[in-house]
Amino acid sequence: MKNILITGGAGFIGSNFIRYLFQKEPDIQIVNLDKLTYAGSLENLIDIQSNERYSFIKGDICDHFLVTEIFHEHKIDTIIHFAAESHVDRSIINPELFIQTNIYGTYSLLEAARNYWLNEKSIPSDQARFHHVSTDEVFGSLEPEDPPFSETSPYSPNSPYAASKASSDHLVRAYAKTYGLPISITNCSNNYGPYQFPEKLIPLVILNAIDGKHLPIYGDGKQVRDWLFVMDHCEAIWTILRNGQIGGFYTIGGNIQPTNLDLVRTLCSVLDELLPNSVHLPHAGLIQFVEDRPGHDRRYAIDISKIRNALDWYPKESLKSGLRKTVSWYIDHPEWVSVIREKVSYQNWIERNYDKRGVQP
Ligand code: NAD
Ligand code: DAU
Repeated sequence: MKNILITGGAGFIGSNFIRYLFQKEPDIQIVNLDKLTYAGSLENLIDIQSNERYSFIKGDICDHFLVTEIFHEHKIDTIIHFAAESHVDRSIINPELFIQTNIYGTYSLLEAARNYWLNEKSIPSDQARFHHVSTDEVFGSLEPEDPPFSETSPYSPNSPYAASKASSDHLVRAYAKTYGLPISITNCSNNYGPYQFPEKLIPLVILNAIDGKHLPIYGDGKQVRDWLFVMDHCEAIWTILRNGQIGGFYTIGGNIQPTNLDLVRTLCSVLDELLPNSVHLPHAGLIQFVEDRPGHDRRYAIDISKIRNALDWYPKESLKSGLRKTVSWYIDHPEWVSVIREKVSYQNWIERNYDKRGVQP
């Protein structure tokens, strides 16, 4: 792997992945293609932007002409596809962009890779790879006694976001079966860590708690998610790219599965510890139950046996240590936070998603 195209590299996981790769691999050229939607920001990569091994291209993955040109100009041998509309609540309010970016955008990248690698034979196909970054949400929701999701779980997506990611997984799989495109797919659980856009639960709670605002818990707060520190996810993806099977599917998770309410309580105790002089102590006093998300999946959990046994990858970060690193990062980066929060689009989102949500006892 010499010339890697990262899509969505200005977003949360993509920017962490680019930073990870720079530290890890000295000989790789990275091209970052990102549309810079509300979720993407060049601030996320300010320390890397002038590195000679890095180029940034502002553009849309759905722009097939642009994508094709990038493959030729940069002799792309590997693509790691992060770009997506990623927030479930936004997909409920307005699914259209999810269909466009997550499904059509993935198709556009697959076609460009097929033409460049397989039709034009510009790169030997055993030296090329299309890695698709997907989610555990494609598998739907688990009952309390169900075994965790694994590579053989049936697809059963419940939100427009999950359905669009499931469609993109199917397309990637179909390009492997039909055309022999060298692919791999990872289905990962909830990530958290630095640079996460504060529409997602953990950064939203951190910023609201610092400001003494309510911490909104949807429904009864007994939904279960499997939490993975973002750097662990980056390491898993890179391990699969180096040593994983071509055509391989891997489920990735953190083996940490609290209810949302327990997670937010733990987060509040970390905030209490790191902000001992806050006037909002104890932060757990700010918790407020609000109207639930429609179609809210009850439980996710991941079986990581395949990647652990085959590639010796397992999550390194504990919940407490990961949350401490995350809270400290948000406290230490007030400029990053204020750039996002001052945007009208962010304020509109917060108003739209929370102002009409009824408060529950
Ligand atoms: P994010 O929303 O933080 O970032 C998405 C990035 O994609 C942004 O930089 C955005 O500008 C860019 N983008 C969106 N539409 C684009 C388009 N049409 N063309 C080019 N760029 C575009 O998302 P994230 O949380 O970093 O997630 C990255 C990937 O990982 C997604 O595919 C998501 O489905 C998957 N995933 C996320 C999680 C999680 O917990 N965040 C877990 C599992 C899988
Ligand atoms: O499971 C992987 C998925 O994790 C990724 O594919 C998605 O891109 C990512 O957004 C995430 O989806 P979730 O919907 O699980 O993440 P979110 O942070 O939005 O919510 C986590 C849980 O917290 C979920 O059960 C909903 C709940 N929640 C969320 C918000 C924003 C609340 O209770 N209150 C909130 O304000």
